[in-house]
Amino acid sequence: MSIPDDVIEQVRDTADIVSIVGDSVDLKRTGSDYRGPCPFHGGTHRNLAVIPKKGMFYCYVCHEAGDVFSFFMKRFGMDYPTAVREVARKVGIVIPERSERQGPDPYEPLYSAAAVAQDWFARQLRESAEAEGARKYLADRGIPIEVAGELGLGFAPRRGEFQAAMAELGVKEEDLVTAGLVVRREDGSIGPRFRSRLLFPIHDLRGRVVAFGGRLLGPGEPKYLNSPETPIFHKGRSLYNLHFARNAIRREESALVVEGYFDVLRLVQAGIEHVVAPLGTALTGDQVELLKRYTKSVTLLYDSDAAGLRATFRAGDELLRHDVRARVATLPPGEDPDTLVQKGGAEALQPILRDAVDVLERKIQILERKGWFEGVEHRREALDRLLPTIRAASNAITRELYLGRVAERSGVSKEVLLAEVESMRAPRPVPSNAPEARPAAGARPAPRRGRMGGVAEVELLRVLVASDDYRARAAHEVRREWFEEPLHRELFEALVADADLPATDLPARLSPAAQALWSDLRETGATLTDAVLDDHYASASEALEFRPLWRAYQLLTDDAEKLARKKELNAKYPRALQKVMHWQNPRPRSPQ
Ligand code: CTP
Ligand code: MN
Repeated sequence: MSIPDDVIEQVRDTADIVSIVGDSVDLKRTGSDYRGPCPFHGGTHRNLAVIPKKGMFYCYVCHEAGDVFSFFMKRFGMDYPTAVREVARKVGIVIPERSERQGPDPYEPLYSAAAVAQDWFARQLRESAEAEGARKYLADRGIPIEVAGELGLGFAPRRGEFQAAMAELGVKEEDLVTAGLVVRREDGSIGPRFRSRLLFPIHDLRGRVVAFGGRLLGPGEPKYLNSPETPIFHKGRSLYNLHFARNAIRREESALVVEGYFDVLRLVQAGIEHVVAPLGTALTGDQVELLKRYTKSVTLLYDSDAAGLRATFRAGDELLRHDVRARVATLPPGEDPDTLVQKGGAEALQPILRDAVDVLERKIQILERKGWFEGVEHRREALDRLLPTIRAASNAITRELYLGRVAERSGVSKEVLLAEVESMRAPRPVPSNAPEARPAAGARPAPRRGRMGGVAEVELLRVLVASDDYRARAAHEVRREWFEEPLHRELFEALVADADLPATDLPARLSPAAQALWSDLRETGATLTDAVLDDHYASASEALEFRPLWRAYQLLTDDAEKLARKKELNAKYPRALQKVMHWQNPRPRSPQ
């Protein structure tokens, strides 16, 4: 009945000594360690130190010391195997013989279905003839089968063997459906969700498999197919590899965030373990909160193409909103972490990580390179790009430093910048797992008065809510910066983030306030004809593009220059100019 050593090691590695000791001792962070009153000698001062980097605790008064297992043995008088089992239970590792002793969990059948499936998929990858292509694919990408095995990768065959195998292993069909592993077709028959794909298991923090990401081995769409949202998997609240990376994240006192599964796989293979990836979405506030349990410093390591940069800055702002330090590492053009490390090993990445700069600094670098600090018009636009990051910084000191830096670089005084930042309403840095702190559904912030262009933001959103075609177009043509109202921007981002997502799935991804706005717009936009949609789309996007240019125009002091500029603007944005005249001199509401 003894527990295998590798299982004990696995339990020790997975266990989070801070949260385990923290269950019965009130711990407070001091530097990289945690302190609390020692339960062994019953002290009231914070003499017990928990040192996550070493996985140890130590009392400065009574000198009790040890790892997570000895903590349980000493604290609760358990013998060693019982302590190991107790810790394993807490971290969700199943130790075969007595695993039934786990408390009843309504989702246990789903976890178990996912675990059995993972095991079966992994065996297919190792052994099945059909997986030859998958093994070759990994080999071609330079990934040894052992590494794939360590991360639990699997293979889903093309046909229906999966269901038969699950039935034989005693997994109920309804659990497979609920766990998102098989899909029910319209005629009521069912079939596997994943076919001919390489599967990356996604774990929760307790190390349980909760979902899969599946990559096609050849060309085709979609390249990656993930498990759907299920009772045990919420993709916006999970990070790929966090269960494994968290000890390394604590040790390194920082986390690397990359875009994809293969990036994670490659880095882990190269010995860089403090790496996680979001699951095909922009980094969410909830994901940031998860990371923040382990570190307050994150390095973003995304592709350096335009899409990668956009994602970087979006993630950067999200981190800042949650008071996490955000740095940006810049890869050479055309590389992602996977390709770079495949070619040059971990050493190739070291200088890039070393040269990572703060997210605001990275924005400034890029704007400088484009010459955006020269000339009034561009400078205004440059500020429009920097201000949201200043505003995102929820930490007072960071914000102050950012203000100083942008003032220095742009020549606009800190006071003026601060006034601008404060005139933008702060977005809500509230994780969705704290619903009580959120505005109630339907409660919508009052529109700000006197903000020009807010109407155009709503007009454009109404079109996008009404029509998927325009959503797809807007993804290329409309820039998120054009939306200044945070609620509008949130909705816009959700609308274009995944243009293939059915409109009806959107509300689930929105804050209550944005949901309310969405359903409002959906109602009021339902009757718009194609011609009207087209007209609104064109005029509203023109107006929003025009807005910063108009502001720059207003900063001009030379009358001749002003006149010339106005002509130019009139030629290029005739309708918007008309509108702006209206923004400037709003007609009285009820002409009497
Ligand atoms: N992704 C997804 N669904 C898609 C496309 C991408 O969930 N349809 C997620 C996956 O997690 C993927 C990540 O976004 O790993 C990055 O996507 P992409 O850059 O397209 O893929 P790579 O990670 O570069 O994958 P590969 O190297 O296999 O091409
Ligand atoms: Mn890639």
